[in-house]
Amino acid sequence: MLPIESGDMSPPPSPLILTQDELKKIAAYKAVEFVQSGMVLGLGTGSTAKHAVDRIADLLHQGKLMNIIGIPTSKKTHQQAVSLGIPLSDLDTHPIVDLAIDGADEVDSNLNLVKGRGGSLLREKMIESACKKFIVIVDESKLVPHVGASGAMPVEVVPFCWKFTQDRLQSLFDYAGCVAKLRSNNGGEDGEIFVTDNGNYIVDLFFKKDVGDLKIASDAILRLAGVVEHGMFLDMATTVIVAGELGITIKNK
Ligand code: 5RP
Repeated sequence: MLPIESGDMSPPPSPLILTQDELKKIAAYKAVEFVQSGMVLGLGTGSTAKHAVDRIADLLHQGKLMNIIGIPTSKKTHQQAVSLGIPLSDLDTHPIVDLAIDGADEVDSNLNLVKGRGGSLLREKMIESACKKFIVIVDESKLVPHVGASGAMPVEVVPFCWKFTQDRLQSLFDYAGCVAKLRSNNGGEDGEIFVTDNGNYIVDLFFKKDVGDLKIASDAILRLAGVVEHGMFLDMATTVIVAGELGITIKNK
C-alpha cells in the first residue's frame, strides 16, 4: 500500500485524457493544414473525415481558403458539404483530385488500409485512387499488426445471388478461418439488409488468421464475378496522420 503523506489528502493531478473523438479531430485538423486554395479535394466519409470537412468549411467561410472544389465520397458527406456551403463536383468533371482526406478502419505498418466499415468503400476507392495525394487520418486505435486484425474486411457485392458470392468469398479464405456475413442495419442476422449508396450489399469478412499476401488476396476477391469492390486499400495512402495520447505522428509513404 502506498504511504499517504499527512496533511495532503488530495489526489495526484491526473494526466489529460483525450476522448477518441478528440483524437480524431486533432488528426483531421492537422490534415487540413495541407489544403491549399484552388485545390480539388476528395472529401472522406466517417466520424473522423467529418471533422476535416467541417474544418475546410470553416476556413472557406473565414476567407483563409478560396476556390476549393470538393468531391464527396458518399451521399452523407455530400449532404454535409452542401449544408456547409462547400462547392462540389464529381470525377466526371474533375478526373484529377489534388488531395483526398479520409479516415480508415485499420492501418498496417506499410500504410495499407481497411476501409468501408462505414459502407462507402466503392466511392472512396474511386476518388482516392484518382488523387495525387491521399492523407489518411486516424486515432491510434486504428493501427494494426496486419490487415484484418481488428474486425471486418468489407466487400461490396451485387444483390443478385449475394449468398452465392458470400459463400465463394468465405471459401477463398478458408485457410485464414474466414467467416463471411451479410451486413445488416442492426448488425444482427435477421436485420434489414444494409444497402450502399450504389444500391449494393456488403459482405463482411472476419479472419481468424492473417490472410498473408494482400495483393494475392485482393486479386482473388476481385476475380469473383459478383464482387464490385473490396475495402483493402493497398499502396494508396501517401500520408497517414495518427493522433494519440502522446501527440501526432505523421507517416509518409
Ligand atoms: C467509411 C470508411 C471510414 O473512413 C472508416 O470506417 C473510418 O470511420 P471513422 O472515422 O468513423 O472511424 O471507410 O466507409
